[in-house]
Amino acid sequence: MDVLTALLLLVHLIPVSAAKNGVSSKSRKRIMPEPVTEPPGTDPVYEALLYCNIPSVAERSMEGHAPHHFKLVSVHVFIRHGDRYPLYVIPKTKRPEIDCTLVANRKPYHPKLETFVSHMSKGSGASFESPLHTLPLYPNHPLCEMGELTQTGVVQHLQNGQLLRDIYLKKHKLLPNDWSTDQLYLETTGKSRTLQSGLALLYGFLPDFDWKKIYFRHQPSALFCSGNCYCPVRNQYLEKEQRRQYLLRLKNSQLERAYEEMAKIVDIPTKQLRAANPIDSMLCHFCHNVSFPCTRNGCIGMEHFKVIKTHQIEDERERREKKLYLGYALLGAHPILNQTIGRMQRAAEGRKEEVFALYSAHDVTLSPVLSALGLMEARFPRFAARLIFELWQDREKPSEHSVRILYNGVDVTFHTSFCQDHHRRSPKPMCPLENLVHFVKKGMFVTLGGSSTNYFDACHREGF
Ligand SMILES: *[C@@H]1O[C@H](CO)[C@@H](O)[C@H](O)[C@H]1NC(C)=O
Ligand SMILES: *[C@@H]1O[C@H](CO)[C@@H](O)[C@H](O)[C@H]1NC(C)=O
Repeated sequence: MDVLTALLLLVHLIPVSAAKNGVSSKSRKRIMPEPVTEPPGTDPVYEALLYCNIPSVAERSMEGHAPHHFKLVSVHVFIRHGDRYPLYVIPKTKRPEIDCTLVANRKPYHPKLETFVSHMSKGSGASFESPLHTLPLYPNHPLCEMGELTQTGVVQHLQNGQLLRDIYLKKHKLLPNDWSTDQLYLETTGKSRTLQSGLALLYGFLPDFDWKKIYFRHQPSALFCSGNCYCPVRNQYLEKEQRRQYLLRLKNSQLERAYEEMAKIVDIPTKQLRAANPIDSMLCHFCHNVSFPCTRNGCIGMEHFKVIKTHQIEDERERREKKLYLGYALLGAHPILNQTIGRMQRAAEGRKEEVFALYSAHDVTLSPVLSALGLMEARFPRFAARLIFELWQDREKPSEHSVRILYNGVDVTFHTSFCQDHHRRSPKPMCPLENLVHFVKKGMFVTLGGSSTNYFDACHREGF
């Protein structure tokens, strides 16, 4: 089966039903399965298609759903960058010909695409912390550079931004019309794809924003751990997790055979092929409906793709069971979660700064946060994935604040380890802010096991 047939088959397999999101139903249809209530399945091609997150395949959104007596106080958005060109090449093959310029007559398209480009060309370096000011503000190469955001990636985040605009600005009035610089908190890693993804989302959210009011901070660490990155125990968990991955791979003879076949096709040693991480490049072929590369020895095919993708699913399953990744995730996600609760607590006290926070990041950022929150069933972050924390105030009891947590538009609040089953005991459809705060300050270390009660001790535990 070729890529095209697989795509067409799948598009037919996915059921379509009407959206009910109370905002603008015309553009959104529920087609995707829920990532949490439906854990990753076993069909590798279907899983890969979800991962591509092709914009014509719309999904439902539960962001901003709350009873009338609740007031939205602040919103914290974590995104993975949108669709990108591969980071690796398959040696001795022609790399996929994908055009990273933004043009109106190519799909996928978004009505704001042209105005996005013209707005970006007016941007100035003053809006960015160094070294972000050296990066291009939108993708612009006729043959994509390695890792470059594609038009698909831009459209994905224009869509995310527009969706958040409809819900948080139009419906819940999170920001006044004359919003000020300090009401936004914007942070991105130093890759062009994360900066551009953040800008596309921001443009969808606040079209034609005033450049003078925008300031993007630079985050050097993919864990967003700022001044608290040094954590030896976290690295020890990661080494054990990588050992687990390695042993699982050794056990999979089908995978080994697939790598051998592919190595033969491109005529390099199997080891070298594996090191070139071919699935990264193959996913790009797959998501863009470009056939896999061929040489005079033959073609890399859908069978190879399926074997590797199936192994990835199996790897994720074992990862959940063995809990080594959980240890890494709890320590890796602590600094950013700690920062987020700090921001929420300040907003709950009535301060008006930083009511909208956007962190433009990577799969290796979102994945630990999801695991740390206890969202074990959540799918691996797809392109343009979004994880959102909403803070609400009960107007009937103004001292009470609650949170909702959403992953790709699905309400996962009651799947988190700190709010599991809370809704069975309380009539409120939300989680008390204290639950999240207590979890970040104490609960995370209890989950980790051992006797540490704070981040510093947990990171330096002797004899681990
Ligand atoms: C994939 O590309 C082929 C041309 O190679 C085109 O005919 C087909 O419509 C494309 N399929 C999808 C799902 O975009
Ligand atoms: C947690 O946040 C507080 C401020 O809200 C800060 O003082 C503290 O250093 C942070 N701790 C860690 C480990 O990030």
